[in-house]
Amino acid sequence: MKPSTRHTQLWQVDKNNPDAEIIRQAGHVLRRGGLVAFPTETVYGLGANALDTEAVKGIFAAKGRPRDNPLIVHIAEIDTVFQYAGFINDSAKRLMETFWPGPLTLVLPARGNVSEEVSAGLESLAFRIPDHPVALALIHEAGVPVAAPSANLSGRPSPTLASHVYTDLNGRIDAILDGGPTGVGLESTVLDMTGDIPVILRPGGVTPEEIQAVAGKVLLDPSLGENGVTPERPASPGMKYRHYAPSAPLLLIEGDPLKVTQKIKDLIEEYSLQGLRVGVLCRNGNEGQFRGSVIVTAGMPRNHSSVAAVLYDALRSFENTGVDIILAEGVEPRGLGLAVANRLRRAAGGRIIKV
Ligand code: TXA
Ligand code: MG
Repeated sequence: MKPSTRHTQLWQVDKNNPDAEIIRQAGHVLRRGGLVAFPTETVYGLGANALDTEAVKGIFAAKGRPRDNPLIVHIAEIDTVFQYAGFINDSAKRLMETFWPGPLTLVLPARGNVSEEVSAGLESLAFRIPDHPVALALIHEAGVPVAAPSANLSGRPSPTLASHVYTDLNGRIDAILDGGPTGVGLESTVLDMTGDIPVILRPGGVTPEEIQAVAGKVLLDPSLGENGVTPERPASPGMKYRHYAPSAPLLLIEGDPLKVTQKIKDLIEEYSLQGLRVGVLCRNGNEGQFRGSVIVTAGMPRNHSSVAAVLYDALRSFENTGVDIILAEGVEPRGLGLAVANRLRRAAGGRIIKV
């Protein structure tokens, strides 16, 4: 389906005290079947009324998203989940009480009373309460569950600024609520709670260690294997698609930090000799190590949560620089670093060098 051409309204809102009149108008747009992008604590989401099939179809069209990739239902209160989910085990209830509102999405058995397009025909449904005053005010005002994927064109890095949403979706959606930069910077953790043991389908803002502390046990989906290679049938449909891809191919170099630095230096020389413009995505402070014909550096702080917050903007910052290839330093896949490493591996699309 082609996206319809729309006038995209831009609303600036104060993150902590969003203007009630703007929220009222945005809620109205959602109720009448429109598409509204809004900030959450992870990334910007593109919302539609989850009970309105035509509205939900509009999300897939606006993003160019494959129809078999289901959406997360955003709600404002825990009670709402019982209206739309079937059996919810005790461990899921504890997780909701501990991490909601927050960057944890729970996949639960569906009751079948939201638009079938949301779950892409699956018998499960994903839910989350975002931890952001603007998102919560909007969902309250809409008075309906809000289906929302990240507000980027399919395949592109998720938006952490309203300007990223505007670049990708201007003319394709009805409105953007600009509440400034998001917090975490990476998407929520998607956790399958349909079986006895929770399974992480997508690492994100809540770490495996944090989930384990509440649920006792947690497994990582096999598709999150070492090099990010996905099996034939990944558990989370979204994991099989090319994702978070910057405009130039990204080559990820993982391993011992000193060896990684040396390898990047060698590659810069090699590619520069071939006449290629090379971009480097490296930690803050490491930029000075890399010299060559044309180098663009994007800083990554050393702390994992700070890397998460700026990663997508850094990936987007290589656009319009004319680089032919991006060399990226790997991060250690521990704690929030697991989510960062996962996104880098997927941005690399399998082009990974271990040193
Ligand atoms: O932080 C986030 O999760 C952001 C904000 C806007 O809330 N949303 C987001 O949505 O990242 P999206 O659509 O870009 O990613 C949702 C992921 C996809 O990988 C999708 O396949 C998976 O969740 N998912 C959704 N419903 C599912 C289900 N029923 N079973 C398995 N995976 C599901
Ligand atoms: Mg997405």
